[in-house]
Amino acid sequence: MKLPTLKIGNLIANIPIIQGGMGIGVSLSKLASAVANEGGIGVISAVQIGFREKDFEKNNKLANLRALANEIRKAKELSPKGIIGVNILVAANDYAELVKTAVKEKIDLIISGAGIPKDLPKYVKGTDTKAVPIVSSGKAAALIAKLWKRRYDYLPDAIIVEGPEAGGHLGFSEEALNKSPKPSLENILKEVITAIKPFEDNYNKTIPVIVAGGVYSGEDIAKFISLGAAGVQMATRFVATEECDAHINFKNAYVEAKEEDVKIIKSPVGMPGRAIKNAFVEKIEKINIPVRYCYNCLKTCNPATTPYCISRALINAVEGNVENGLIFAGSNVGLVDKITTVKELMSTLVDEAEKV
Ligand SMILES: Cc1cc2nc3c(=O)[nH]c(=O)nc-3n(C[C@H](O)[C@H](O)[C@H](O)COP(=O)(O)O)c2cc1C
Repeated sequence: MKLPTLKIGNLIANIPIIQGGMGIGVSLSKLASAVANEGGIGVISAVQIGFREKDFEKNNKLANLRALANEIRKAKELSPKGIIGVNILVAANDYAELVKTAVKEKIDLIISGAGIPKDLPKYVKGTDTKAVPIVSSGKAAALIAKLWKRRYDYLPDAIIVEGPEAGGHLGFSEEALNKSPKPSLENILKEVITAIKPFEDNYNKTIPVIVAGGVYSGEDIAKFISLGAAGVQMATRFVATEECDAHINFKNAYVEAKEEDVKIIKSPVGMPGRAIKNAFVEKIEKINIPVRYCYNCLKTCNPATTPYCISRALINAVEGNVENGLIFAGSNVGLVDKITTVKELMSTLVDEAEKV
């Protein structure tokens, strides 16, 4: 199959692959620009992006906003012609400020999940920045389209459908994830395409639907394109690249992980998450880890009762202290067996898809 380009309004990616945003600090300017230079869409994760700034603990919000602007500038410098997005978690306390900063820096697209990004169009309407929500059902896709149209006369520029095999936070209940068979990405894709069709017809706008969660090979990409997806979002595979912004210990944990090492964990975000089983995951299953310092990062977290601080756990992991950290990963991490380059990975994926 000849892979189509991915069109999101006037943005055209030659390869229909979005590298999924990965927080904290796993996808920053280095990874995002490398993907964009290969013709895909590179995505910086905005969540607690200021973790390397000197004033991160003292002045968390300012440190994050400054680091976000810097990472966007760096990515654009490294990939002047590429398409760069930012992933901003709806559950973040500083959501509006992060969005405004990204728009001011002329980011190409903002991708938002872990909640309904009710007011995203307020900040992007009238600019060149595209608004892309992440959903896990047709119902959520229709709800966002309806809400945005009514409130802001705006429709999503694209929609990412994330299924139950993704890494990080998941838009499914633990019961749904433990159900057999699990909800399938193929079915949810169909559901979302059907749910947004009336909006596309009534308002004469194409809303590309992009699938995420468990997409691993070029064959997977070809399959989802043939089912009506405009592209795919992939994250797990991009961790095991030289350009990924995480510490080498984080990447090695991916290479070493087996299928049975993948666990569903509880997160202070209020959604289940998928991670690699390690000493930290075993610990939080047994005891609460008291919060030493609160970054006040999440709308949903109460530091007095939270089982652990997710910011600290993710920062430990990305900085290489993996045994005391949370290593998010998709369900296919067991298949990762080496660290490669973004160039090699993208060309392998395209070759595999084109052979189908
Ligand atoms: C290490 C890691 C961190 C992630 N962090 C975020 C995040 O901050 N925000 C978000 O919307 N999705 C996050 N995700 C989900 C990815 O962007 C992506 O949609 C998903 O993992 C795709 O599935 P795959 O990993 O099987 O390719 C994360 C995934 C991983 C593996």
